[in-house]
Amino acid sequence: MGEKPSYLGLLNAVACGEADAHEYFTAWADMTPDDDVRRVLRIIATREGEHGMAFAKRIHELGFEVRPKVDPKHAERMEIARSDRSDLEKMEALGVTSFCTADDEPDVFDSFFRDHSIDIQTGALIGRYIAEERDTGRLATGCRAKLEAKVSVPN
Ligand SMILES: [Fe+2]
Repeated sequence: MGEKPSYLGLLNAVACGEADAHEYFTAWADMTPDDDVRRVLRIIATREGEHGMAFAKRIHELGFEVRPKVDPKHAERMEIARSDRSDLEKMEALGVTSFCTADDEPDVFDSFFRDHSIDIQTGALIGRYIAEERDTGRLATGCRAKLEAKVSVPN
């Protein structure tokens, strides 16, 4: 095992958080009656699962193992995803768009590259991850707007 990179904790947090998100987005996609919502949720769910695996893979390549982190809120999120709440209520309860900011405003990902020791391969992975998360934010925001429009103008 080589020297421990300072960013190992960051990789571990992403690996675990994304794997959890894959589970609840998949459970929600399996439940929704709305084809448009399901299309968006499938994209998000597979991205999350792939991020979880890609970050775990990178941790292994660096010579370490993923330390499983039990998120105390995960069970509650699974319950929400599987419930018969409306898609809009789920979006609200799961805080799906809570990390979204305007394109020129700071977000949670801005600090990831503050660690200048990040190696090239890990940096490429993190860069792609961040770009996909921000795109996911845009997809979710668009989906939410459509759901809100449906609520205000019921058909
Ligand atoms: Fe994510």
